[in-house]
Amino acid sequence: MTDQTSAGGRRVAAQTGIFRRKPIEDDGSESGLERSIGLWQLTAIGLGAIIGAGIFALAGPVAKVDAGPAVSVSFIIAGIASACAALSYAEFGGLIPRAGSAYTYGYAVLGESVGWFIGWDLLLEYTAIVAVVAIGVSQYITFLLDAFGLDLPAWMLGAPGTGDGHFVDLFAVLLCLGVAWLLNRGIKTSAKVETWLVFVKIAIVLAVIVVGAFYVKSDNLTPYFPYGLSGAATGAATVFFAVFGYDAMSTAAEESKDAERNLPKAIVLSLAIAMVLYLLAATVLTGMQNYTDLADAAAFGVAFESVGLSSFAKVVAFGAIIGIFTVLFSFTLGASRVWYAIARDGLLPSWFAKTNEHHSPSRPVWIVGIVSAGIAGFTPIVDAAELTNIGILLAFIVVSVAVIVLRYRSPDLPRTFRAPLMPFTPLLGIAFSVWLITQLQPATWIRFAVWFVIGVVIYASYGYRHSLLGRGRVVQTKDT
Ligand code: ALA
Repeated sequence: MTDQTSAGGRRVAAQTGIFRRKPIEDDGSESGLERSIGLWQLTAIGLGAIIGAGIFALAGPVAKVDAGPAVSVSFIIAGIASACAALSYAEFGGLIPRAGSAYTYGYAVLGESVGWFIGWDLLLEYTAIVAVVAIGVSQYITFLLDAFGLDLPAWMLGAPGTGDGHFVDLFAVLLCLGVAWLLNRGIKTSAKVETWLVFVKIAIVLAVIVVGAFYVKSDNLTPYFPYGLSGAATGAATVFFAVFGYDAMSTAAEESKDAERNLPKAIVLSLAIAMVLYLLAATVLTGMQNYTDLADAAAFGVAFESVGLSSFAKVVAFGAIIGIFTVLFSFTLGASRVWYAIARDGLLPSWFAKTNEHHSPSRPVWIVGIVSAGIAGFTPIVDAAELTNIGILLAFIVVSVAVIVLRYRSPDLPRTFRAPLMPFTPLLGIAFSVWLITQLQPATWIRFAVWFVIGVVIYASYGYRHSLLGRGRVVQTKDT
C-alpha cells in the first residue's frame, strides 16, 4: 500500500472558514499519459456511461406504472433538465479539464463545505448507480438463462417484494462484488475496448428500434397519456437515471487530445445521441406491447418474445448485458475516485486514499462494491434509481449555481466553451431539477436526509479540522 496523500501537494495560503476555496488554476504539471483520445472516442466513452439500465431496465416499469406510452415524454422532460446541466458541465469541462467531478467544481467555486456536501452526495449516488445497473444486468441474465430453459430458484431472482418467493438478487450482488474485484486487480476496460462495447450497445439499441418498428401497433399507443401529464412527470423523475453519465467522461480528459475543446463537445454530443435513441426505443417498446402488459424485468426481451421473436429477444438480452456492463465499470471506478479525491484533500481519513500494488484505491473500491451489493441484492430497482436521482439532481443544481457564480466572479477565465443564454440555461436546469426532486417519493428524501446529516457530522467533527487546504496545502493531480 502506498500513501498518496502527500504526493504532489503544493503550498498555498492557509484558509479558514467553511467556504474556503481550492484554487481553480492549473498547477502546470504535465500528465504522463499519452493524449490519444479524439472527439469520437470521447463521445463513445460518454455514451458508454449514459446508455444503460435507464433505457433497458427502467423504461418498461415506468411505462407500466407511471406514464404509459408517454414514457417518451418522461424521457424528454428528464432530457431537458439534463441538457441544461450538461451545458454547465461542459463549461467546467473546458475550464478544468483535469478535475472533472462536481466535487471539485463545488470546492473550487462555492467553497469547501459545499464541495464536501457534493462529494458526500456523489459517494452515495455513484454507489446506488452501480446497484441499479447491476440489477438491470441481472434481469437480462435471468431472462437469457430462462430463455435457454434453465430454471433458477425463485429466492435468488430479485429483492424481497419484487416477485413470488424472491429473497435476494444474487446475480446483482455477484456483479457488484465481481467488478470491485476486477478493478482492484488493476483491470479496467481500456478506451479501445470501451469503444467497441459501446458500438455493440448502440448496435443493439438500433436493432431494437429497426426490428421493433415493424411490430408497433397504434392501438398500443392510445391512450397516450393513460396516467395524465402528471404520470409522465412522475416517470421523468425515475427515467432521469437514463440521462446522465457524461460527467463520468471527464476522468478521461487527461488522455484526450485538445481536451478543452473536445470535452464540452463530447458531453453535448453524447447526450444528444442518447436522447434520440431513447425516444425511438421507448416508442417502439410501448408500441409493441400494451403498457399494461410490459414486464417488470427485462422488458425489451419480453416484448420481443410477445411478438414471436424469441431468438431476437435472446440477442437483445445478450447485447444489453454486454452494453450495460460498461456502466458498472465506469461508476464503480467513479465512486472510488471521488472517495479517493476527498480523502486526499484531507476531508476523510487518508486511510481511504491508499492505493494497492495495482494502483487501485482498493479500500474505497471494496466499500463501493460491498455497499452497492447490499443495495442491489435487497432493493427494488425503481427505489434504488430514485435514491440515485435525488443525488444527481442536487449535484446538477450545485454545478449550475457554480457556473453562474464563476461567470460573474471571474468573467475573464479562459473558457473554451460557454454555456449559452447565461444565466437562463443554468437557471432552467435548476428549476427543472428542483421540480423533479419534488416528484420523487418522500421515502427517498428521508433516506437522503439521513445520509446528509451523517455527512454534516463527519465534516464538522473530522473534515474541517483535517482539511489540507486549511493547513495551507492543496493536492492537484489529474485523476479526480
Ligand atoms: N445513465 C446510466 C444508465 O442508464 C447511469 O445506466
